[in-house]
Amino acid sequence: MPNQLFATKSIKELQEAESSGNELRRALSATTLTLLGIGGIIGTGIFVLTGTAAANHAGPALALSFIIAGIGCTLAGLCYAEFAAMIPVSGSAYSYSYATLGEGIAWFIGWNLILEYLFAVATVSTGWSGYVLSLLEQFNIHLPSALTHAPFDQGQGSLTIVRTGAYINLPAMAIVAAIATICYIGIKQSAAFNSVIVAIKVTVVVLFILLGMSYINTANWHPFIPPNAGEFGRFGWSGVMAASGVIFFAYIGFDAISTAAQETRNPQRDMPIGILASLIICTVLYVVTAIVLTGMVSYKDLDVAAPVALALDKYPGLRWLGLPVKLGAIAGMTSVMLVMTLAQARIFFAMARDGLLPPWFSKVHPKFRTPSTGTAVTGISAAIIGGLFPVRILGELVSIGTLMAFVTVCIGVLVLRKTRPDLPRPFRAPTPWLTCIGGALICSAMMVSLGAATWLRLVVWTAVGVVVYVCYGYKHSRVRAAMSSAPGKVSPATR
Ligand code: ALA
Repeated sequence: MPNQLFATKSIKELQEAESSGNELRRALSATTLTLLGIGGIIGTGIFVLTGTAAANHAGPALALSFIIAGIGCTLAGLCYAEFAAMIPVSGSAYSYSYATLGEGIAWFIGWNLILEYLFAVATVSTGWSGYVLSLLEQFNIHLPSALTHAPFDQGQGSLTIVRTGAYINLPAMAIVAAIATICYIGIKQSAAFNSVIVAIKVTVVVLFILLGMSYINTANWHPFIPPNAGEFGRFGWSGVMAASGVIFFAYIGFDAISTAAQETRNPQRDMPIGILASLIICTVLYVVTAIVLTGMVSYKDLDVAAPVALALDKYPGLRWLGLPVKLGAIAGMTSVMLVMTLAQARIFFAMARDGLLPPWFSKVHPKFRTPSTGTAVTGISAAIIGGLFPVRILGELVSIGTLMAFVTVCIGVLVLRKTRPDLPRPFRAPTPWLTCIGGALICSAMMVSLGAATWLRLVVWTAVGVVVYVCYGYKHSRVRAAMSSAPGKVSPATR
């Protein structure tokens, strides 16, 4: 078994299998990919988590935290771009690790990508629900608390879960159901819907920056890095690092576009453009937003659920922008869920096609040509999770799963440069040692900054994954079946 766990898929076979059996519609261009990336990136992170990160960890140096997380993501993004252009297949990091590090690691990464995408849909749905409730309250519409909040929350010790008294978060479930329906119908319609939303949220962020700039009080930036409050991660440089772990969530999403490689017209050229352009645009917007926000309001006042709205409320001349910002945030979170749902369905598709999940996960709808069963499973599971659990339990779990995938992709690029230097690489990550090792190290440092409860949940999730692999994936793996019928043919050493 150990040898077979490291069985890798031939890249050539992978590419051929993709092109011959591709029933998905090739509708995406570099621009739509970039918009999909931005659609998946800007959401809960910038509209919700910035406040907590500044008030509890970094102070005005939040901009530095965004830069650190942005560098980590850009390095990982370069690695994703190399892989996505070389292996333009639908499974993203899962498929890349199958081709480089073997089936066992590929399963592990695929399982972590489920943690990223499926749980991100659930996480963002709860943030969306919170913003919608506050918007409705602004218009004096009050929905019953028991039906709009999660019944479970984190207890005093972060390892325990307690009942809240509420029954279910219905708005969160409703938005997930609506998004899943759009994704079920088609990638083209989904991309068009996403483009409109991206335009709205980017406009809102740019308006905040341009109008907020003239209300900056530079005294709010002093001291830029508040002295450490005697505890690791509470201000000082350790606070800057801890904040980068928290706001890392804001960057999640650029990698999701690599799951749509099979639906891209010219993946070799368009994938690197889409990944890097969306990442660079969002990094610039985030850093500038952090500078403006902490200049407008003292970081000490920012520990609220809607920090951007709070900053606008402080200045009568800017209050009119409060409503558009809330609407922009709601729209932003909607497109994040859309991109994540698309991505998750395609991960299920790739894993099922390899035999690691039951075949019905890779069923393509005869009329819509979308991975319909995977989309339905994603929608139903995310709706249940989002209906039951709050952001703070789900958010860090999403981050740790994503970071794990990023580290693996960075290492995978380096491994493949050594083992298969001959393969055509339409896009090459520059200075691979620096890019790959730097990316892996920064992402590992952000993983370390996440709490013990998150690590424990990751261990539990991984243990469940091992059971599923042993009971199903190991027995049904197509690569393993090929190895058994023609030993030596599909072995890492022969390719
Ligand atoms: N980056 C996405 C967000 O911030 C997940 O909502």
